[in-house]
Amino acid sequence: MSNVKVGFVGAGGMANAHISQVATIEDATIVAFCDVMEERAQTAADHYGGQYYTDAQRMLDEADIDAVYFCLPPFAHSDIERIAAAGGHHIFVEKPVSMTVDHGLEVLEAVRSTGVISGVGYQGRYQNPETALRNYMRNKTIGMVASHRWGGIAGGPDHWWRVMDKSGGMLHEQATHQIDMIRYLAGEITEVYKIDAMRINVDQANHTIPDAEVVTLQFECGAVGQITTTSSLVNGGGSMRTDFMLEGHIVVRLGWGSFEILPNNGEAIEISTEPQPGIDQAFIQAIQTGDQSLVRSSYADGLQSALVSICANQSAKESKPVSVPQVAS
Ligand SMILES: NC(=O)c1ccc[n+]([C@@H]2O[C@H](COP(=O)([O-])OP(=O)(O)OC[C@H]3O[C@@H](n4cnc5c(N)ncnc54)[C@H](O)[C@@H]3O)[C@@H](O)[C@H]2O)c1
Repeated sequence: MSNVKVGFVGAGGMANAHISQVATIEDATIVAFCDVMEERAQTAADHYGGQYYTDAQRMLDEADIDAVYFCLPPFAHSDIERIAAAGGHHIFVEKPVSMTVDHGLEVLEAVRSTGVISGVGYQGRYQNPETALRNYMRNKTIGMVASHRWGGIAGGPDHWWRVMDKSGGMLHEQATHQIDMIRYLAGEITEVYKIDAMRINVDQANHTIPDAEVVTLQFECGAVGQITTTSSLVNGGGSMRTDFMLEGHIVVRLGWGSFEILPNNGEAIEISTEPQPGIDQAFIQAIQTGDQSLVRSSYADGLQSALVSICANQSAKESKPVSVPQVAS
């Protein structure tokens, strides 16, 4: 395949980040945009060229498209992703890919049965420090993983992010990046147990997500871990970090795109300075070559990360640990 014809479903904030990247790729052309907010789709089409739609099914029926980006809020994922993949379209889906186990498995089944290329927006996997760390940690014994993502509230009072049925909460919507990176470096999480609370953001309108979440993790390798989140730091003071306690009595302390190993008189890890293809370049190249391995998070992998937080939310509802279905391999 020479030129990859791309359509976008969702033309909001994250779509525009991908659109601006895809627009720079020589062998890709964006041919269609769809958003339920017509002016967003139209604005993108006016700027980049192509048709605009307000209905994704119509876009799939009418536009000549090889690949579709789904840049939708969690609640807006629907059967359209399965339909696109079942119809032979390569799909890129923004994280978190689903709100439910069943929907995710249906999309995955279509991806696997047609063999289309798939990608999910865990861009941390494309950064050189994380790549170096993955190689370093590959055969190391991990004892414990401790991660946190503490911040404020995304968007204003009308934003979908603060509504539990729409976003799935901070663990599912934002700390999914931490979950994915933990899986990338430490392997699969097999069981989760979450407790949560809502005590500080009670003064915030329309806020139905927990403002504090604590999750315990059981790893396939035998390690244990925990993740905490809060959206209560609306006036600043947020932070995010993941610590991995490793054999040799050391801790790998990972931020975003940088890490340190303590105590710092230990071995140094060489980090490549070669620019790597970004997440969009990798997806388009994978389509052109038919090589799914160029994409560092396939739909199956992205779904596996989403399943961790879906199961954690279920465990909080049921007040008991929940086993995480394993679908990535
Ligand atoms: N990978 C990352 O680092 C990263 C960063 C930000 C956001 N995201 C993810 O991207 C997704 C979208 O986030 P956003 O910030 O772009 O949200 P947004 O609200 O800015 O944009 C979402 C767009 O989808 C449109 N939409 C909703 N339902 C639709 C439907 N059925 N058909 C067509 N369009 C529809 C909305 O009108 C809106 O324009 C979220 O899941 C978010 O987690 C990922």
